[in-house]
Amino acid sequence: MNTKVIFDTDPGIDDAMAILFAQASSKIELLGITTVFGNATIENATRNALYLKQRFNMSATVCTGANTPLNIAAGEPTTFVHGQNGLGDIELPDTLPIAADARSAHDFIIETVRKYPHEITLIAVGRLTNLALALQKAPDIAALVKEVVVMGGAFGHNGHTGNVSPYAEANIIGDPHAADIVFTQPWPVTVVGLDVTQQSIMSNDYIKALQDQSATYGEFIYQISRFYSDFHKESAGLDGFYVHDSSAVAYLLAPELFKVKQGPIRVICEGPAIGMTLCKTAEKVFPVDDWHNKPKQQVCTDVDSKGLLDLYFKILTQSPKPL
Ligand code: BDR
Ligand code: CA
Repeated sequence: MNTKVIFDTDPGIDDAMAILFAQASSKIELLGITTVFGNATIENATRNALYLKQRFNMSATVCTGANTPLNIAAGEPTTFVHGQNGLGDIELPDTLPIAADARSAHDFIIETVRKYPHEITLIAVGRLTNLALALQKAPDIAALVKEVVVMGGAFGHNGHTGNVSPYAEANIIGDPHAADIVFTQPWPVTVVGLDVTQQSIMSNDYIKALQDQSATYGEFIYQISRFYSDFHKESAGLDGFYVHDSSAVAYLLAPELFKVKQGPIRVICEGPAIGMTLCKTAEKVFPVDDWHNKPKQQVCTDVDSKGLLDLYFKILTQSPKPL
């Protein structure tokens, strides 16, 4: 059975790779791509989503989303990670023959969730602003969404605690208030954080093999990922790069690759630990307890990295699914 997906994203090199993973999978029906500021300006993120749609013949609706966080000032786009244009500075056309849908990202989410009650999975791999705006405008959608899979946060498993600050991951520190709203709603959230995404590395040999063997996607992925690979080499000494956003898609396709734990999740929204994500696993109710009475969510604590890399490779190298 196909899962209907709305993919909320800030493309973004690894975002683009994850969008193609979802697009290539015969188990996913990609209904929409909603964009958000973060890795790129909102204009560039939306242009990049439209570029992917056009280049890879995708039927997904592209909608423009938020360009600023809910309550804090917007940071600069992370062009040092993803390039000035968000896609590793590959050459992109000045204009595209297609445009974004007139609806805002959050209105598209609300309409589509109501149209397909209990059928939509939201995969969110950027700041969670669009999801929070949708919840604020239409709280009823929480009960109508099938599942939410978020790439973001870090809970200290496998030694991973943050990548922007010692205790915060980029997507969460970029809009901590939005993340706290999303994590505390009565809908089922699985968080795929640095705990697992930094356990999987796509080496440069892996990407070269993909370039050779994925007729549809390989060359594009090779080209956009050169910038990302250079960034990881300089910042972390890696040969290759972490598998952030595609790990969220992998969770949807093959949850058995992951170990999880359950508990309510809160986000620190101020001070030196702003953006820190904390999952309470103890059943005890404390005298001061802002986790108590919040719904239990799921946090990924471990991953079968080889299984994940094999899955990505298999799906990107199989024949393209028919439109
Ligand atoms: C997250 O930040 C962005 O750079 C990536 O696209 C990913 O979503 C990892 O911290
Ligand atoms: Ca992202």
